[in-house]
Amino acid sequence: MSSNTASRKLEHVKLLLANKVESGESTLLEHVRIAHNPLPELDLEEVDLSVEFCGGKRLKAPLMITGMTGGHKDVAWINEKLAMIAEEFGIAMGVGSQRAAIEDESLAETFAVARKSASKAVIVANIGAPQLAKGYGLREAERAVEMVEADALAIHLNPGQEAFQDEGDTDFRGVMKKIIEISSKLSVPVIVKEVGTGLSRHAVAALYNAGVMCFDVAGLGGTNWIKAEVLRSKARHGEPLRPAGGLEDLWGNPTAVAIVEARLAAPKAFVLGSGGIRNGLDAARAIALGADAVGMALPALRALVNGGEDALRKLLRAVIYQLKVSTFLAGEKRVLGLWRAPISVGGRLREELEERGVEVDRYIRVHRLRSLMWRLRG
Ligand SMILES: Cc1cc2nc3c(=O)[nH]c(=O)nc-3n(C[C@H](O)[C@H](O)[C@H](O)COP(=O)(O)O)c2cc1C
Repeated sequence: MSSNTASRKLEHVKLLLANKVESGESTLLEHVRIAHNPLPELDLEEVDLSVEFCGGKRLKAPLMITGMTGGHKDVAWINEKLAMIAEEFGIAMGVGSQRAAIEDESLAETFAVARKSASKAVIVANIGAPQLAKGYGLREAERAVEMVEADALAIHLNPGQEAFQDEGDTDFRGVMKKIIEISSKLSVPVIVKEVGTGLSRHAVAALYNAGVMCFDVAGLGGTNWIKAEVLRSKARHGEPLRPAGGLEDLWGNPTAVAIVEARLAAPKAFVLGSGGIRNGLDAARAIALGADAVGMALPALRALVNGGEDALRKLLRAVIYQLKVSTFLAGEKRVLGLWRAPISVGGRLREELEERGVEVDRYIRVHRLRSLMWRLRG
C-alpha cells in the first residue's frame, strides 16, 4: 500500500512536468480590473506587501508555494529547495500529502527536509480527506504536523481527482465531522484546501461556522487533477479507464468565483486565493477580490525542476515585483489596501457570481470593506 502511494507521487510529479495539465477553463480573474491611480502620492519603495498568515506569523509577501511533494526519495530535494527559497523570500511553503510517510515512517525524511533547510519559514503540513474517511484522526494529523514542525496543517479535499484516479478513494462520508474535530483539537490551525476544482460557498460556510478559520480555495483555471488522472490512466492502459468527457476542463469553481464565495461565507477567515495564479497581476486581482494572500504550485515546481534554484528565484522575484507595482498603481501603501481599491468586475465573472446569488456591487462596496475593517482591528 505505502509503496504504491510513494510511486504514485513520483509518477504524478513526472506527469505534471511533462504534460499540459492546466484546465481549458480560465480562473475568470481576467474579468477583474483594478482602477489605475495615476497620482499614487507614494514612493514605490514604501509599498508594504507583508501580511499575516493563517496562525499569525507574518509573511514578507502574500505568497505561498502550495503543497506538492514528498513521499518518495527522488522528490525529497524538491521539498528541501522549495522550503529554502520560500524562507529566503519570507513566503510560506506547503509539503505534499504526507500519507506515504504516515504509512511508512522511512519516508518521513522526504518531508522533514523542508523544515531542516528552513528553520524559520512558514511551513504547512498536508493530509487528504479520503484518509480521514478511512480512519485518520487527530493522531495522524499531529504526526504530520510534528514531521515538519508545521505552522499549520492543510487538509485537502479532492473528490474530483479521486473519482478519476485508477485506484481512487471515493468515499468522502464523514469528512466534515473529522475536519471539525481535528481543527478544534490540533496544536496548529487547519487550512482546508481544494486541489484545483475550487472550494464553494457552501463548504466554506459549513466549516467556518464550525470554527475553521483558514481556507485555500485552489479553484479551477490552473493545474487540473481530473486531467492529470485521466492522462495517467491513459499512459498506463493505452486509454483512460474512465474518460472524463469534458469534466477535465469544465467542472469546478473558477478561482475568482471561489475567492468571492469564500470571503462571503467566511468574512473574518484567512483566505488564500489559488489555482491558476501565474503572475503578480493575477495575485493583485485575487487579493482585490478579497483574498489575504495567493498560492502557486505548478509554476514553482516547473521553474525549480526545469531551470534550477535561480529560475525559481527569478519567478518569485517577478511575481512579487508585479504585485508590488500593482499595489502602487492602485495608490495603496499596503497590499491589503487592494480590498478597498475601486475595481470593476465584468463579463463571465459577474454573470456567474450573479447566477449564484452574489450581489456583485454590494460585495465590492460592502463585504470587502467590512472584512478589511475587521482585519485592521486585529
Ligand atoms: C505536482 C503537484 C502535486 C500536488 N500534490 C498535492 C498534494 O499532495 N496535496 C495537496 O493538497 N495539493 C497538491 N497539489 C495541488 C496544489 O497544492 C494546488 O492546489 C493546485 O496545483 C493548484 O495550483 P496551481 O494552479 O498553481 O498549480 C499538487 C499540485 C501539483 C502541481
